[in-house]
Formats: sequence, structure tokens, C-alpha cells
Amino acid sequence: MAKVLIIEDDFDVAAALSDMVTRLGHESTSCPTIEEGIGKTGSADWDLVFLDVRLPDGNGLDSIDDFKASASAPEVIVMTGYGDPDGAEVAIRSGAWDYLHKPLSFSNVRLSLKRVLQYRENTLKLQKQEKQLKLEGIVGSSRQLAACIELVGQAAQCEADVLITGETGTGKELFARAIHFNSARARNRLVVVDCAALPDTLVESALFGYERGAFTGADRAKEGLIKQADRGTLFLDEVGELSMSMQKAFLRVLQERSFRPLGGSREIASDFRLIAATNRDLDAMSRNGLFRDDLLFRLRSIAIHLPPLRMRPGDIVELVSHLTEQLFESFGITPKELSPEFMESVLSYTWPGNVRELMNALRTAISAATREPVVFVRHLPVNIRASLARSRAKAQPEDTPVFPEMSPGVTVSPFKQSRETILSEWEKKYFEALISSTKGNIREACRVSGLGRTQLYEMLKKHRISRLGWPD
Ligand SMILES: Nc1ncnc2c1ncn2[C@@H]1O[C@H](COP(=O)(O)OP(=O)(O)OP(=O)(O)O)[C@@H](O)[C@H]1O
Ligand SMILES: [Mg+2]
Repeated sequence: MAKVLIIEDDFDVAAALSDMVTRLGHESTSCPTIEEGIGKTGSADWDLVFLDVRLPDGNGLDSIDDFKASASAPEVIVMTGYGDPDGAEVAIRSGAWDYLHKPLSFSNVRLSLKRVLQYRENTLKLQKQEKQLKLEGIVGSSRQLAACIELVGQAAQCEADVLITGETGTGKELFARAIHFNSARARNRLVVVDCAALPDTLVESALFGYERGAFTGADRAKEGLIKQADRGTLFLDEVGELSMSMQKAFLRVLQERSFRPLGGSREIASDFRLIAATNRDLDAMSRNGLFRDDLLFRLRSIAIHLPPLRMRPGDIVELVSHLTEQLFESFGITPKELSPEFMESVLSYTWPGNVRELMNALRTAISAATREPVVFVRHLPVNIRASLARSRAKAQPEDTPVFPEMSPGVTVSPFKQSRETILSEWEKKYFEALISSTKGNIREACRVSGLGRTQLYEMLKKHRISRLGWPD
């Protein structure tokens, strides 16, 4: 049973709608003004608000956000005047879930109510699952990462095979572990097979196991990794490295969930869940005949693509803060300040090795700065500094030389002005990343940046960075 609030000043319309809602088995309450309605949604749990447009104390459409922002965050269905097509469009644009034309018909109310309640039930279930996910070790709250985490939640709830793709160091193994440890198989084993580390002949015996005497040197039978993953999860890492013949053999195992050890005559069953990962483009490989498309199709029942770190500046800021704290603690040293130029460099570097490279770079930088209170760009590994220097030199327009003495006669902007421009560009990037990573939460942004509220607001204003789109 849902709790429905009707905001309508026409007593007859309100009574008719209330009657329909009650006949459909839900609880309904009516009130004639926006103010009274908002008062009610603030103090009890409501699933749905039917909202009239023209009300004694204002236009209902202007209050949709207020209803949605109230504690129970109900969905809103707007009741528009008949023959007002613009009203319907405005209602949807203003964030209403749906609209109904007056006079209301029982069948329309029933259908609309059914859909909205189904939707609400689903989203509430998903939100609950996400809150319950154990995501130890996963840092970052960018939208891109949140979308991947949502898929972890879905994958953990079912048994479908999962394919995780992404550049090296983006967290494929970390995510595979998160799926396993949040799934019903968490109490059983997660068996990791690195297909890149094993030559073809060994992959076969490692996966399938062998009987005694299967080959020279097989003086005892050995259980294969597929069997070890029985009732647990098999994580097939670097699956793109499997040879065509192993792909064929493995496809059969996936279909049958049983296999025959080398030298054995009996089929052995294993109830494993498969998660595969690769940094290769399996679609391209399949087009070129290097990867079986039937296997790819099977592997990818759920596909999670982890975006490269350079596409998630907000996550870089969060990771730097999290990882440096960890490093200070593990080195047993007092926390150091990171210079603004250091952060600027970290944000502009492309991180081809993604989070793994960032972790290593921070470790190097902090070790190099052990005796100093501030970590500077020069503490970063030399290959990163060289790469940054190269890309900056490239980015310089041809008529603005970096070193004036090399091109006599060319005008160079005054030092202060150049510094201001670069600093301002960096500030903008920094505060955009900060707001994105803290989802617009000002208190959190102050904590992460170490700035006071007034300073933070000044910066947001200076760079015209909006918190819009993020909840308060
Ligand atoms: N979002 C994240 N938060 C915290 N740590 C992360 C995150 N993503 C990756 N890492 C860390 O980065 C390192 C590399 O991650 P992982 O081994 O999962 O990457 P991968 O995608 O499997 O890389 P490869 O393709 O090279 O095998 C690990 O130490 C992991 O814990
Ligand atoms: Mg890996």
C-alpha cells in the first residue's frame, strides 16, 4: 500500500481522485495549498504527490523540486488542464514523474499509479543494495565510477558471467573482488587465473588439472583451478591472451560447467561463477579472428568498463588525498603539504598506468620528500616530469617561446601575468574536480581542500563553477 498526497483546491476533483486512490488499495490525504502540502511531506513518508498546477498560493510546477527534496522524496504527478499541451511538457521538464490531463479517468490514474510505484520500488531496492555493498578499497565518487559500482551491485545479486574491461591499472581485479565478496559466493573461494602469465600448455593443466601419469612428470593427480572454484568464483584475468584452442575448450566448460582433467576419462562438474577481465579490445580481436565471438558473447552477460583515470579528475583528487594519508601513516611521518603545482601536475598528467601508476608516483614523491615539509613537482618520478614537460612544450603556441633568450626579439608576457593565467587555469580545474568529487557537498569540499567556506565560495564564484546538479 502506498501513501498518496493530493494537492488540489477543487474539492470535487480532490474527492474523486481520493476515491480512486482508495479503491486501488492505497492511502490518500488531500490538502488545498502548496504550503500545507510541503508541511505534510516534510513530516511523514509519502510515495506520491498528485499536484494541481493552479493553486491558491502559487503555481504547482514551481514547487515540484521542493516536494522531491523533502524527506520522503516522493514522486510527483502533475494534473494539467485539459487541452494544455505546453503544461504537460513544462511538467516533465520541471521534474514531474508524469502528468495527467483533467478530467481524470480511473484507468489513467490506475496505470500511472502502477508505473510510478513499480519504478519507486525498484529504485529504492537498488539504492538499498548499493548502500549495503562492501566496497573496501575502492576510492572515488565520480559519476563514471558510480555507474561501475552500480553494475557491481547488479552483478553481485545474480550469477551471470561478467566481463570487466579497462586500461591497465584501472582496477579490474579490485572490481572483480568486490563482485565476489558482495555475492552469495563470498564465503567460498575466489580463484585467480592469470592467463598472460601461463604458457598455453600450462593453462590447460592449471585450469583442468590432471590425473596421475597424464604426462611425463605427472606422478600425482592434481586438482585444476576450475574445480577449486567450485561454489566460488573463477577470475580469468587477461582473458584476451587465451589461445584459440583454449578459447574453444573454455567455451565448452562454460556451457557445460563440467570438464575432463588431462589424462582423465571422467567429466568433473564445477559450479563456478566466472568473472573475466582484459585490457584488450576483444571486439576488434573478434573482428580479426583472434577471439571467438561466441565466447565473447557468453563472457559479456554483464559488461563493466572501467574508465581511464584521466577521464575522472575528481577521482584523482580523492585518490591523492586518500593514498597520501595512507603513505604518511605507513612511513610513520607527519603529513606533508602538497604544493599547488604538484596537484596541477598530477591533474594534467595522462596516467597511462592509471591508479597503479598514481600509487607508485605518490610513493616515490613522498619518499623523495621525506626531509621536507612540502611535496613539490620535482619529487615526482622523472618519466612523469619529462612527459609533462614534453606536452607543455607542445601546447605552447609557436610564437610564444618558453625561453625568451632562445628567440631574441619575440615579446614575452610579463612574469606576473603569465603566472596569473596558469594559476587561474589550474585553480579552475582544481575546483571543478573538487566539486565533482565531493558531489557539491560544501562541508566535504572544505574538508578535502582545507579551505574555509568563504574562501571556497569566493573561488567557485571567481571561476563560475556551479554546484547545480548536485544535491544539497
Ligand atoms: N578506484 C580505486 N580506488 C582505490 N584503489 C584502486 C582503485 N582502482 C585501482 N586501484 C588500485 O590500483 C592498483 C591496480 O588495480 P588492479 O590490479 O585492480 O588493476 P587492473 O585493471 O587489474 O590492472 P592490469 O590490467 O594491469 O592487471 C591496485 O593496487 C588497486 O587496489
Ligand atoms: Mg589485473
